Amino acid sequence: MESFYKNIKIIDNPDDLLVLVNKNNKLPDGFIPKKLTKISLEFATNDKYMVKEAKEQFEKLSSDAKKLGYKIIAVSTYRTYDYQKQLFNNYLKEKGSDHTLKYSAKPGHSEHQTGLAVDVMGSNNDYNLFEESNEFKWMVNNAHKYGFILRYPKDKYSITGFKYEPWHYRYVGFKSANYIYQNNLTLEEYIKNK
Ligand code: DAL
Ligand code: ZN
Repeated sequence: MESFYKNIKIIDNPDDLLVLVNKNNKLPDGFIPKKLTKISLEFATNDKYMVKEAKEQFEKLSSDAKKLGYKIIAVSTYRTYDYQKQLFNNYLKEKGSDHTLKYSAKPGHSEHQTGLAVDVMGSNNDYNLFEESNEFKWMVNNAHKYGFILRYPKDKYSITGFKYEPWHYRYVGFKSANYIYQNNLTLEEYIKNK
């Protein structure tokens, strides 16, 4: 889209659970979320941090899923500005700019830096193939009950600025997640009409 990464606004509510971070809304320089808390290693590949409420609800989600025989594991959660920069630049080198811009956010523009996003893998142990796992359907139908939304749905590139990411979920709290799920919205649309 023409307007991506143009007329960029600096976000003034970076610690809000409903913060909108995208190609046109950038986190303030040096932003680090308050209340980062480590996820139980039962539900993460290694030491991973999220904002307290998001961490608690993610553990609840994974724990409930586990009781049903599913495995939902966090593979990427909070990322620092510098780590996102490194990821984005590596992606550029490997895949070129067209592909990279569709799948990876420039530093300061990733909601992973808010501590409210989580990339997950299922029992096939590959987040890239999460859509093919047994867990995916469960996640699509249940994530909102724990306050999470599928942040980059299929065919919403012109709104979100990113291609379909079946593995990426964003914590927004139960009330908002439920509304977004029921009405099939993106976070961009929800925030605009709130
Ligand atoms: N893959 C998502 C868009 C990010 O880089 O934050
Ligand atoms: Zn992600």
